[in-house]
Amino acid sequence: MPRKSKNRNLHRAKKEQNDEHYTRLTDIERELHHYRDHFRDQVVFLNCDDPETSHFWLYFKLKFEFLGLKKLIATHYDRERPTYKLELFGYGEEPVRTSLTQNGDFRSPECVEILKEADVVVTNPPFSLAREYVAQLVEHDKKFVIVGGFNWITYKEIFKLIKDNRLWLGVSPRNMSFMQPDGTEKQVNACWFTNLEHKRRKEELLLWREYAGNEEMYPRYDNYDAIEVSKVRDIPKDYAGVMGVPITFLEKYNPRQFSVEGNIGSYAPDGYSLANAVYLKKRKVFKRIVIRRIP
Ligand SMILES: C[S@@+](CC[C@H](N)C(=O)[O-])C[C@H]1O[C@@H](n2cnc3c(N)ncnc32)[C@H](O)[C@@H]1O
Repeated sequence: MPRKSKNRNLHRAKKEQNDEHYTRLTDIERELHHYRDHFRDQVVFLNCDDPETSHFWLYFKLKFEFLGLKKLIATHYDRERPTYKLELFGYGEEPVRTSLTQNGDFRSPECVEILKEADVVVTNPPFSLAREYVAQLVEHDKKFVIVGGFNWITYKEIFKLIKDNRLWLGVSPRNMSFMQPDGTEKQVNACWFTNLEHKRRKEELLLWREYAGNEEMYPRYDNYDAIEVSKVRDIPKDYAGVMGVPITFLEKYNPRQFSVEGNIGSYAPDGYSLANAVYLKKRKVFKRIVIRRIP
């Protein structure tokens, strides 16, 4: 095999290996109980889940009645072979297994047909296909609660959805522990992404610091007309202009309290980047989200 394609195969295998980490029931329960009302009479689709081992399947199977689900569907993925889907129609019932002619890839026409039938998609998808995965949910106008890497925020396609209030962070804190195929646990800087309303998103961030012209604490960027707020807890209560804040701000973001104006720093230019990089006394500041407080 030529060296280049061998390298490519190795790279792909490594990426796919990184995709193999499984969500724990405790984390699923901790997040999903915030969405109880969103699941009533809904068809829930787990499109990156092996129902024989997935704790997502287990969760919805056990909670079928409590949540008032209409139907639960999961498709199994195999890189090479045709697989199957499993459907559950009621609590305590036997699931119905149907063979697929394709391999359960979420992009396969067969899975897209199932997606069309679904109301809410819930899963932890392969991180290496994040952009494609999220784009498909948006294209089909689906409700979703999914696990993803915290750094997805910095992908321009995903940031655009955040800015437009079409996707936001879930409730549970980031940094999650996942099971690996060898039975060990792995810590990943992961979080939940959703477009379902939840209570945390309605909570106001308590603001107590005062700007009061304090340019030492809140310096102005050399090349962009905004102040730097280096810690989310220091967002001033009395500043009406635009502020650059760390991306962890999104964990506290309430769209009734703040508007997201764009981003600055190391993002690709995309119409949402307000500046490619900002500087404070000639020192580069990385990854900032530009926000404004809604009076
Ligand atoms: C991060 S793991 C999570 C598995 C499961 N959702 C969970 O949380 O326990 C992502 C899974 O997606 C599957 N997968 C990879 N590529 C896929 C694709 N193109 N379509 C559907 N599933 C895929 C892999 O088999 C892998 O197990």
